[in-house]
Amino acid sequence: MILIISVIIFVLVEGILIFSIIRYRERPGAPNPFQNHGNLKLELVWTVIPTLVLFVILFFTIRGLLYVAPENEPAASASQPKIEVTAIGHQWWWEFYYPNYHVTTADTLEVPVNTTVHVNLFSNNVIHSFWVPALTGKTDVVPGHNNTKWFVAEKAGTYTGICAEYCGTQHANMRFNVKVVNNNDFQSWVSTQQQAAAAPTDPLAQKGAALFKNQCSSCHGIVGVNLKQFYNTAQECTDLPGGKANGTPECLIGPNLTHFGSRNLLAGGVLDNNTANGNCDPNNPNLMQQCNLAKWLKDPQGVKPGNDMNIGELTNDQIQQLVAYLEGLK
Ligand code: CUA
Repeated sequence: MILIISVIIFVLVEGILIFSIIRYRERPGAPNPFQNHGNLKLELVWTVIPTLVLFVILFFTIRGLLYVAPENEPAASASQPKIEVTAIGHQWWWEFYYPNYHVTTADTLEVPVNTTVHVNLFSNNVIHSFWVPALTGKTDVVPGHNNTKWFVAEKAGTYTGICAEYCGTQHANMRFNVKVVNNNDFQSWVSTQQQAAAAPTDPLAQKGAALFKNQCSSCHGIVGVNLKQFYNTAQECTDLPGGKANGTPECLIGPNLTHFGSRNLLAGGVLDNNTANGNCDPNNPNLMQQCNLAKWLKDPQGVKPGNDMNIGELTNDQIQQLVAYLEGLK
């Protein structure tokens, strides 16, 4: 409707403009057009008509807003239970914290089908916007302001989510997935996620674990290694490296990696967590193509310029050890 109105006005205004340019262009012997000042009728017309046009647009806008306005969040019922999750906007990745399960993950929000998902939106850096086009509209994630939203996924599957508010250099690469599974799969996912990470047995992964403690653990957390448990209170946050004692669930700079190997995405949702069938060898350029974690560790600023992964250069051996360790965290 707005496009049609705009096209009509555009053609009319530009038509008169082009007519005047041609008709009254400078040329030898051309007379000046008639000169006058003030025309009450004309001025009334060009004030009243745009006003009316704006009211028409206002009508359609309000009608559209009412049409897309969400209904009230339904109460939990047997046929449609409810879960709660806190979506935390970082620069530039999404963290998902399940306060009732004390589970933290990143890049993929896993939820059960036919369940009301109540989402608390949290940021303590800049404004982001949580958007899963196939499931729910945009809601801004505003520092210091507690926005919430809810959605219900009626079909299992994987849905793409993005940040829909410009938030800095890598705004376009602040992606996530919503993975909708049946209730049993969700419950078993939750109980797996609640376990602490098992100590690695493979010698390569053991070296990777030592490297993690040295190089990565000031920004990343692994339950059972440098975290006692998934954080859920301000006190726990205060105890964490890089902790911010402000009563928020955000405690670490980087994603919690406790079950990294079970995730489908990495690097803020822009890379598949593929592992070359568990065979990542950074010395082999062919395998590197199928091994995004190795690619990411080798050159995080090349993959996603401006991100907070400033780890310095790792040797290929170190990368291989870290990949073996992190991908083993199922
Ligand atoms: Cu976060 Cu754009």
